[in-house]
Amino acid sequence: MNENLSKGNRRNFLKGGLVLGGLTLLNPERAISSPLNDQSEEFKIITGPYLQTNFGNSLSILWITSKDSSSWVEYGLSPDQLDKKAYGKSELGFKPAGRLNCVKLENLKPGTSYHYKIVSKEIKDFQPYKMTYGETISGNTESFLNTDPAKAEVSFLMLNDLHDRPKSIAHLLDLDKGNKRDFIFFNGDIFDYQNDEQQIINNMLQPCVDYFASSTPFVYVRGNHETRGKFARDFPAYFDHVGNTAFTLGPVRFVILDTGEDKEDSHPVYAGIVDFDQYREAQAVWLEKEISRKEFKNAAFRVVMMHIPPRYSGDAHGSVHCTQLFEPIMNRGKVDLVLSGHTHRYKVHQPDKKLNNYPIIIGGGPKDGSRTLTKIKATNKQIEVSMLDDSGKEVGSYLVVKR
Ligand SMILES: [Fe+2]
Repeated sequence: MNENLSKGNRRNFLKGGLVLGGLTLLNPERAISSPLNDQSEEFKIITGPYLQTNFGNSLSILWITSKDSSSWVEYGLSPDQLDKKAYGKSELGFKPAGRLNCVKLENLKPGTSYHYKIVSKEIKDFQPYKMTYGETISGNTESFLNTDPAKAEVSFLMLNDLHDRPKSIAHLLDLDKGNKRDFIFFNGDIFDYQNDEQQIINNMLQPCVDYFASSTPFVYVRGNHETRGKFARDFPAYFDHVGNTAFTLGPVRFVILDTGEDKEDSHPVYAGIVDFDQYREAQAVWLEKEISRKEFKNAAFRVVMMHIPPRYSGDAHGSVHCTQLFEPIMNRGKVDLVLSGHTHRYKVHQPDKKLNNYPIIIGGGPKDGSRTLTKIKATNKQIEVSMLDDSGKEVGSYLVVKR
């Protein structure tokens, strides 16, 4: 899919809209409210660093600065020796020079701890033949463990359907306090709709940074609510990846689908500017190819993660379309487990020989009492799923045993 392309373009779009000293031809509305255009604002790191990865010995480090900057990451094997330096991805010969920074570290050593520091140099004045830099600032020295892609046991936590309740992040993760997980998975509808940058920072990024995200990566896929609101088209630029993807970690092939909106594309609330039928259909073509890949076939287990479940979420257009498109392919591919959200009612759906041949675990949310933390642990032999409600009581479990 073109997720990376669209994300890259989006990040450039934001940069392009912001470097013109308070005036932008691309998005005038945001220029007025952007902190960048308040020249009295000090140059600082607004939030971060936060980590995202699809594993494979690479990891992306993201942060946001208050003004445009030239930014990089210094890293190494000891906190006293950050002897390597990495920049964000160059495009068309340009190194990034904006506020939304994403530096991908590659060729990391498996199972090795790294120490790193984010560094940003303010772009004070950008003349055609003279760049004037301001202050250079850096974050604290942080560390992360580069997960060994071949590790024997994988464990992670799923959060879903938080719907703009930032306190739920710490509350739910506290239920797993003391355990080290390979990643945290956000399975959509973390917001009600996308309004502006501040909302993304306040309701997700900062609570994640405060709790775990500078040292443990997260994986994130959009729900239907992330596709709504005036800022939904800017939203992907704040992440390394929020669309469909696939990656292998230890015994598991993970497949992530971006299930799009729940109503018809022609519904008046979308005002004629969405195309989610086509988007889902393209993912079905991609999924068909995925199930024939050796990484998928040879994995001990195949886990699909998608916000709208492939069944059991009512008769809205998006739900029905997901069943029609994805269920036959997932059955043919012998998927072992599906993790979803969307319904706001936590439930473990058993496999059914005629319908879904795999269990579908649906996390709850967003109100107190219906929020869930779903814990997943996979080895070569089995996958254990345990779903806790927000009091810590187990309200669902499932054991997938290798066939
Ligand atoms: Fe949803």
